[in-house]
Amino acid sequence: MSIHKKSKYEVNIMKQAGNIVALVHAGLKDAIKEGVTTKELDILANKIIKQNKADPTFLGYHGYPATICTSINEQVVHGIPSDEIVLKSGDIISIDIGATYKGFVGDSAWTYPVGEISEEKQMLLKATEEALFAGLEYMKTNEKLENVAGAIEDTAIKYKLGIVRQYGGHGVGRVMHEDPFVYNYRTNSKIILQRGMTIAIEPMLNLGCDDVDVLNDEWTVVTKDKKPSAHFEHTVHVTDDGAEILTKLL
Ligand code: MF3
Ligand code: CO
Repeated sequence: MSIHKKSKYEVNIMKQAGNIVALVHAGLKDAIKEGVTTKELDILANKIIKQNKADPTFLGYHGYPATICTSINEQVVHGIPSDEIVLKSGDIISIDIGATYKGFVGDSAWTYPVGEISEEKQMLLKATEEALFAGLEYMKTNEKLENVAGAIEDTAIKYKLGIVRQYGGHGVGRVMHEDPFVYNYRTNSKIILQRGMTIAIEPMLNLGCDDVDVLNDEWTVVTKDKKPSAHFEHTVHVTDDGAEILTKLL
């Protein structure tokens, strides 16, 4: 395991990469409406990333065929945008965005409602966002990474939600996936957080069971029981005073 700590200079570039990811989220949030295809969202995301002189990190990553991931309802992560997938009122859609700017990556996902959604879906979104921020409370020098995982797990338990076990957060920097891997539940990790670490925290919580499958497209992860799932992710910088969110507007 080797965790790359970033210099102030490197963190500053990561803030710019994160700002671009946040700009894409802002643009897509306004575009998410009944009748829009996920392919249209992908095209818009690509355009905003290019306009900002960045590159789409996901495109071509292990052969991934699009700029963003669009995961609807029971889809957990890695849903592939398509001109055949049309948003309808009542859906929830996780949009996961990665942008590489001057050699550094920003990675952030958010789950958005389309039109009016059910009360249980509203609870799922609120709880998963709360789990992300509960975890971020512990992203501080000398804290245990285990406490980040524990806070996410406890939030899931509080709302009686399933926790996706096979995927999690990760270090991020010159590449999208660096050490450490971050589980969204306690694993007795001994890792101690230090200033300069840059890590993406990304709880994926389910209205039903923990278990997931991968579809035949070899990307789309879905819940085994087909119940809805939500995903919220920020790339953050560990400081002595707490988490500095990098994937936000500057
Ligand atoms: N945010 C996701 C992750 O951290 C995005 C990966 S999608 C991929 O793993 F297509 F690029 F693999
Ligand atoms: Co990620």
